[in-house]
Formats: sequence, C-alpha cells, structure tokens
Amino acid sequence: MSVVNLTNIVKRFGAFTAVHPMSLEIPEGSFITLLGPSGCGKTTTLRMIAGLLDPTEGDITIGGERVNELPIHKRNLGIVFQNYALFPHKTVAQNVAFGLKYRGVSKEESAKRVKAALELVQLPNVGDRYPAQLSGGQQQRIALARAIIIEPSVLLLDEPLSALDANLREDMRIELKRIQQQTGITTVFVTHDQSEALAMSDLVIVMSEGRVEQVGPPEEVYNNPASEFIARFLGTSNILDARCTEVSGDSITLDVSGMGAITLPKNRSRDVKEEEQVKLVIRAEKLNLLPQSAAADGRFAIEGLVETVDYQGQAARYFLRMGTTQLQAINMIETTPFSVGETVSIRVRPEDCVVLPGGTT
Ligand SMILES: Nc1ncnc2c1ncn2[C@@H]1O[C@H](COP(=O)(O)OP(=O)(O)OP(=O)(O)O)[C@@H](O)[C@H]1O
Ligand SMILES: [Mg+2]
Repeated sequence: MSVVNLTNIVKRFGAFTAVHPMSLEIPEGSFITLLGPSGCGKTTTLRMIAGLLDPTEGDITIGGERVNELPIHKRNLGIVFQNYALFPHKTVAQNVAFGLKYRGVSKEESAKRVKAALELVQLPNVGDRYPAQLSGGQQQRIALARAIIIEPSVLLLDEPLSALDANLREDMRIELKRIQQQTGITTVFVTHDQSEALAMSDLVIVMSEGRVEQVGPPEEVYNNPASEFIARFLGTSNILDARCTEVSGDSITLDVSGMGAITLPKNRSRDVKEEEQVKLVIRAEKLNLLPQSAAADGRFAIEGLVETVDYQGQAARYFLRMGTTQLQAINMIETTPFSVGETVSIRVRPEDCVVLPGGTT
C-alpha cells in the first residue's frame, strides 16, 4: 500500500518545464527523500504534493483519494520549510497549537496535545517563551511540533535543516529520524545534501533537471549508481574511459584507459557488449592504497604516484597520478599517511566497480 501516488505529473512554468513526467509511489510510513542539485525540481514537486502548486498534467492521490483539486488545508499535511516561519508574536505553545484551532479541538485536548508534541521534540519547558527566545535548532523543532500536532497523513519537509550550522544539522537529522520512526508518519524530505539523504531515508529519489534519475534505498543508489550524474553527485568517484574487450559467462573484461585490463562480475554492468565504449566508476574509498613493497595478491593492482594529500584527521584524500590519469582515493589512516612523491600500490576489488554506458553524462 502506498499513501502518496504521483502519476505522470508535469509542471511547466510558461515554456519552461520544471518537472518532466514523473511517477512515484511513496509507501505508507516510509521516509523518502528527493535529492538533487539546486534547480532540479525538488521544491516544485513537494509544492505540488502540498497543493501549493497545481500540476500542469498528471494526478496526485493521497490515501487513495485524488487530491488535484483539493485545497492545501483539506489534504491533512504537515509542512516544514527551510525558514521555520514561526509566528513571532505568539508563544511557542500558541504556535504549536495553531493547526488545531480550526479543527474543533477542545481547549483541554489542545493543551494535552501541545504538551505531548513538545515532549516529542524534547523541548517540554519552552511553551511560554516566544520564538525569538529560542535557538535556530530549537525553533526548527517547534516548527516540526507544529506540523505533526495535527497528526498529518504525510509530513512534507523542504530543506528543514539547511539554516542550521553543521553540528546542529547532524544532531537534528538524528532527532528528525527518531521522531519519524516514533510517529510512523509518512515523510517526504527534500535536500540537496547527499549525506542527509543517505543517513535518513528509506528510499532516495535522485533528481536532475526535472527528471527522476534513480529510485532506491541509500545503499543501492550509492553502490550502484544508475548514471554518471549520480556517480558524480553522490560521493567521490573516479570515472574512467574503458572499452569492453570480452563478455563471457558471468564476467566481462575491460581495457581501462591508463590502467590496463580488469575483469569484473557481469552484474556490475548493465548489458554491456563487446567493443562498446564504457565508463568505469570506482568510488574513492574503494581504492585501497598500500606501500609499493606490499606483494600483489591477485587483486587488480596498479601503481600510482601520490601528488597531493588532503589530510582529514582519521582519513586522507589522495590525488594520485597514473600516467595521464588522475585518481582520487580516500583511505583511513592506520599509522601515518602516505607522502607526496611516494609511489603506492593501488588495489581495487572488481566487485566494487560499476560499469556505465559510455555515452552517459
Ligand atoms: N514560479 C516559478 N516560475 C518560473 N520558474 C520557476 C518557478 N518556480 C520554480 N521555477 C524554476 O523551476 C526549476 C525548479 O525549481 P525548484 O524550486 O523546484 O528547484 P529545487 O530543486 O527546489 O532547487 P533548490 O535546491 O535550489 O531549492 C528552477 O529552474 C526554477 O527556476
Ligand atoms: Mg528547493
């Protein structure tokens, strides 16, 4: 069962198409994230679900009911945007209770629910304060309490953490996930921050230029990017030109520019044919660096020259030169990092590679 269904929705602004035909099933109780770079249509999609924008084409159903013509206040949604937008002249309790005002909820019931909502966001004692007397993170929790007090069937969150500083963002994302799990509210979260999307979501919808590029659980979109765009957008990837030289049984062999031959399990590629030009994608953290002296053990190994070391504390990011090719590797530092000018042995497990069609961008 899915609580929200988008069927071929399109949004055009004049001659410009912000969202191309898009279909999506959002399962009940799930936390899904629309992820993509600025301008890819995330907010537009969310606003169509909310009823703040009419789709140019297509249907939206919530809980089986077509809602295209239903105004926002009849859709039973909780909405939190980037700027928390609390009413400055109302107390926190009045802000949180706002959504109950027009729902015929008694004073006692309202007070009870405000108390419960403030407890849920772990701010039980601020009901009498005004928004200006709270920190940014606290205000955002209050905005969340205000959104969920009406027991919405869907919670819509548009970059709710982006106004917060980095540390607070990380705390809040754990908090938000806890609240979502505790309440079980179906949640649609919008972000352009890949780490937020990967950490929080049951399902990630990667968007680019108004189109859905891939839908899948975080591990799936990260480990099995469907396109070069996703490989570049999520994580740090090495993307190398290669030619398929052999397809046999369960394996394929590639001739990788500057690297030589590598044989991979066939399931790391989508239907590649012999002689086809392809792209080989290897995540930076999947390039395992070893001292040059380490004996090869049958895994695909090559030599590279360390050109730059970006020291990050527990890990380091290395820029490596291999002939005309530059590679990036991110490795944990066990004792001391490799040094600039050192030649290292680079190992890759074939099952950590992804092969994409050569023509994709
Ligand atoms: N009312 C409008 N009129 C014309 N164009 C619009 C309108 N609203 C959005 N757009 C355009 O539609 C595209 C998608 O915008 P949208 O706000 O959905 O992007 P987004 O993915 O949310 O980006 P961001 O991460 O910057 O918030 C953009 O190119 C934007 O300029
Ligand atoms: Mg937006």
